[in-house]
Amino acid sequence: MLKIENLHAEIDGKEILKGLSLEVNAGEVHAIMGPNGAGKSTLAYVLGGRPGYDVTQGSVTFDGKDLMDMEPHERAAAGMFLGFQYPVEIPGVSNVQFLREALNSQRRERGEEPLSGGEFLKLAKEKAGLLKLDMEMLKRNVNVGFSGGEKKRNEMVQMGILDPAFAVLDETDSGLDIDALKVVGEGINAIMRQPEKAALLITHYQRLLDYVQPDFVHILSAGRIVKTGGADLAKKLEADGYDEVMAA
Ligand SMILES: Nc1ncnc2c1ncn2[C@@H]1O[C@H](COP(=O)(O)OP(=O)(O)O)[C@@H](O)[C@H]1O
Ligand SMILES: [Mg+2]
Repeated sequence: MLKIENLHAEIDGKEILKGLSLEVNAGEVHAIMGPNGAGKSTLAYVLGGRPGYDVTQGSVTFDGKDLMDMEPHERAAAGMFLGFQYPVEIPGVSNVQFLREALNSQRRERGEEPLSGGEFLKLAKEKAGLLKLDMEMLKRNVNVGFSGGEKKRNEMVQMGILDPAFAVLDETDSGLDIDALKVVGEGINAIMRQPEKAALLITHYQRLLDYVQPDFVHILSAGRIVKTGGADLAKKLEADGYDEVMAA
């Protein structure tokens, strides 16, 4: 589904990703762990197509198509979703407006009919319920005044509404209390754990992986994947730390 080969990427002329290769098939959940500054968020941004992140070598294909050749909105319409480490606030735009516009612009791009206001609200209510986010939150301006945990849950509601084929979630578990972590973990399972979908979870901690069991765990260090294992690799990391696991 997603195939990354020898990816090199730089920001402002500084190379951050240094030959990263990774293949994710439909039905799989992969976790990426790694020390601060390893390039995890950079990988997420490169996949999402954020300006300023220059790919200098290598390739990324998504369902056989050259992802790097696609504009960010084309990637989204093709089913790529990016959950941000730091969700942005958008004053003056309500969550409902924002989400409906995001969904309908993707639908138009795919040649599908836009949803009416009523149809959209029904969908939004269902997904907000799944993430235990009060509908009142959806009427407020996007993320403005939301707590860290509410922002992350809001992102997951957005993911539920957009129903992507592939999700890259960058530290979705950071800033969540124990209860919110469970809700978000179960939300990710409900939305993404399907045979035709796949997800890449970027996380520092094992705790999210207690809810969303990864099929593969990769350690990203200094711009490339240095170790790959199963769910047990994350447990080992938690117990022993990066230095010891990477040296082994
Ligand atoms: N806008 C930027 N300009 C210059 N360097 C950056 C920028 N963003 C990130 N970096 C650098 O890229 C490296 C990788 O960052 P990042 O991908 O955020 O790491 P991680 O998410 O693994 O903690 C770090 O050394 C960071 O300082
Ligand atoms: Mg990061």
